[in-house]
Amino acid sequence: MKAAAGLRPRSRASFAWGRCVRGTYAPSDQAREITKSRSFTKPSRVLARFSLDGGHPAAANTNLLLRGFSFRLGGDGQRSEIFTQSVPIHFARTPEQMLAFLAARIRGPDGNPDWEKLEAFSASNPETLHQADYIAAHPLPASFASTTYWGVHAFPATNSKGETRFIKFKIMPVGEERRRAANEATAKAPDLLQGDLDSRIAARDIRFSVMALLDRPGDPVMDVTIRWPDEDRREAVRLGTIVVTGVEANDACDEAVFNPTNLAEGIGRPPDAMFAARCAAYAISQTRRR
Ligand code: HEM
Repeated sequence: MKAAAGLRPRSRASFAWGRCVRGTYAPSDQAREITKSRSFTKPSRVLARFSLDGGHPAAANTNLLLRGFSFRLGGDGQRSEIFTQSVPIHFARTPEQMLAFLAARIRGPDGNPDWEKLEAFSASNPETLHQADYIAAHPLPASFASTTYWGVHAFPATNSKGETRFIKFKIMPVGEERRRAANEATAKAPDLLQGDLDSRIAARDIRFSVMALLDRPGDPVMDVTIRWPDEDRREAVRLGTIVVTGVEANDACDEAVFNPTNLAEGIGRPPDAMFAARCAAYAISQTRRR
């Protein structure tokens, strides 16, 4: 990841540009039907980070379309850290495929990747194009605040009756979704995005519903490159609401050591191979960038 993204010692391996914020989480009455996790059934403070994908912390880059939103919620001993992005699928099914995907994109001395190698890889790994196809077909809105974010993996959720089912996290903006054409949205990003974010935070205008999409028997829970059948029309339960209330110094997020395995009891670890790989990757990245 570092080699493909550019080797900048103190920056994240991906989603390097970010804005650290604070907020609040308020659970809905339905949350406990889905999970007994105290992170999701109790009100708490939130530490969160909006980000742009890629390895450049200044991200003076107009074509970085993918956006991230990571958040920590819950009180002491009951914290959970959820990572979401503005596409519902990942670009690789297995760690080996991800490694080959990234290796094929490493630039040569002329500053370009080996296009033939890249095309050959894509042809023999067609599922690695799903994410790019989705991005091309779904232009992003001009604001972090009106973007929808997905947790991608299927998480086992257990309620207080001991019933367990898979859910997917979907973080949906509350209020209007101001969509603009992709070109317009990214024309001056990230300045445009950051300016919009800061003014909306000042106006207390950023609010998200934390949704749990509910599984059906036979859903593919091991493959993060495909969606569940009819996923956009799935039955969904609103677990709660996040309100962004202020900007935090970026140091607060840089030092917070978010890890996808930090999940309070009631939400378990997704069973797919990519989630297992992530557990180590975040810890290694955080150690190196300190
Ligand atoms: C599949 C869905 C995935 C999502 C939704 C996701 C999302 C994110 C987000 C939002 C961040 C920024 C974190 C922050 O704001 O602090 C991030 C960072 C990162 N991701 Fe992922 N990611 C995914 C998969 C992966 C995979 C499969 C790997 C590697 C095996 C990976 C490795 C990393 C690393 C190393 C960082 C930098 C961590 C740090 O230094 O803090 N991610 N990811």
